Order: sequence, then structure tokens, then C-alpha cells
Amino acid sequence: MCALARVRGSEVGYDDIGVGLPVVLLHGFPFDRSMWREQAEALGESYRIITPDLRGFGESTLGDGGATMEEMASDVAALLEHLGVERAVVGGLSMGGYVTLAFYRLFPTRVAALLLADTRPQADDEDGKRAREETARLALHEGMEPIFSAMLPKLLTPAHVEQDPTLVARVRSMVINARPEAAAAALRGMALRRDQRDLLPLINVPTLIVVGAGDQLTPPSEAQLMGEKIVGSRLQVIDGAAHLSNLERPAEFNSAFLSFLEDYCRQT
Ligand code: MLT
Repeated sequence: MCALARVRGSEVGYDDIGVGLPVVLLHGFPFDRSMWREQAEALGESYRIITPDLRGFGESTLGDGGATMEEMASDVAALLEHLGVERAVVGGLSMGGYVTLAFYRLFPTRVAALLLADTRPQADDEDGKRAREETARLALHEGMEPIFSAMLPKLLTPAHVEQDPTLVARVRSMVINARPEAAAAALRGMALRRDQRDLLPLINVPTLIVVGAGDQLTPPSEAQLMGEKIVGSRLQVIDGAAHLSNLERPAEFNSAFLSFLEDYCRQT
């Protein structure tokens, strides 16, 4: 089901597919919920897959109060309340992972298990914050096309960029359809995000970490360090993928996630 919910004074667009254990998947920057299409199709046969558009993106409105990771996490919590979901597997890719960690800090009892894909716990350093502000201004003044051109080589492997025009067009379409105001707000929200490294040893739910072997933005070495701090976590490195591992290698991504969810269900 595709729907719009009014929560916390804003509209939230979301898909809610399948029945069973609820699984919430949060998209990266500057994308929208459609990036989870292959996961919703594959996992929706056994689980309830809920994919919201984060504030400002897709069908969701930007609302008041900025686009910090905490505001986005609170939107997700309000959406789950609206849907009558008390506890869910919560996961996200990249910015969606930052929101997932913020969600765990704010609402730990509402998390059954975690998926952290192509993401990291650290905050931005001063150079990183400056670059976010420059990108925010670029988006506001020149639109999303230059953002797409700058990001593309880091999002997909060179092989995908050269040989998979359909995937490149899909990623481009998500990026250029993002509203510059939403992108700027999310960039400023990411620049303000807190360092979540102290949270990692406190995580006491099953956690799957997934990373593309060629991810330059959130590299496998960082995923490994994150995994060492989360007791009992599982790390899956996906060959032939860069930052958008779920889109570049959906079969491998889905198989790792399905086997994690099956193990979770067996153990509970
Ligand atoms: C994303 O894919 O969400 C972004 O690369 C995150 C970031 O810029 O830190």
C-alpha cells in the first residue's frame, strides 16, 4: 500500500507492503523510498516492509524544525505509532543509517534489530561541515544536477557507471527530483549530527552491517570498526558494489538481509 500520513504537523509518504515482523527501511541522501523497491519486493513476501520518505524527500513535506537526524527519527517513530507498530527491525543506508542510529538512541525499546548499510557512526569534521554547507548552497542556487554529477562516481562502481545506464538513470532521476530545499536541509542536518560512537557498545539487539566492497564514502574498514563495537553484530561485505549496495547488488543484499531476519526470527 502506498499512502500519506499526517504526523507531527507534516505529510509523510510511505509504502507498507506485506505482513509479519515489521521492517522499516530508511533511504540515503538525496534519494527517496523508491530506492528500496527490490528489497520490498523480495522481503515483502515474508515480512511487513515499511519504507517512508524522510522529511522533504519524495512525497514527504519538509515541515518545521529543520531536518536533523533526530527530527527524521521522530517522524519515523510517529509514523510507526500511526500504523500501530510498537517495535520493528529498523535499518537504513548512509543518511538512513545516521537516522537509524538516532532512532536507536531516542527509542531503543522500539527496535527489534538493526540494519546499518553503507553508513558510519562518526560526526562530520570541520572540513566536512564546510563542504556540506557549500553543497547546500550549490543545490539552492543551481539545482540538483551538479549534485548528481559530483556524487555519481562515489555512489556506484566504475563498472556500473559505464555499463548499467538503466541504474545510472534511476539514481539520477531520484537525485534530480529531490527538492533543493530538502537537500539543503538534510545536508545541514547531517552537518549537525552527533557522534554516535559511544552508542555502539550499548546496542543490545541483533545488528547486520552491510557495505559495498568499493564504498569510498563509508568504506569497509569503517564498517568493520563499527562491527567490532557492536556486540554480536554480523558484517557482510558485498563485492561489485560501491555506496548504493542495495541497488547495485540487490540479490546479494537481499540474501544477506533475509538470512539475518530468518536467524532473528528463529532465535526469538
Ligand atoms: C548518503 O548516501 O546518504 C550520503 O552519502 C550520506 C553522506 O553524505 O554522509
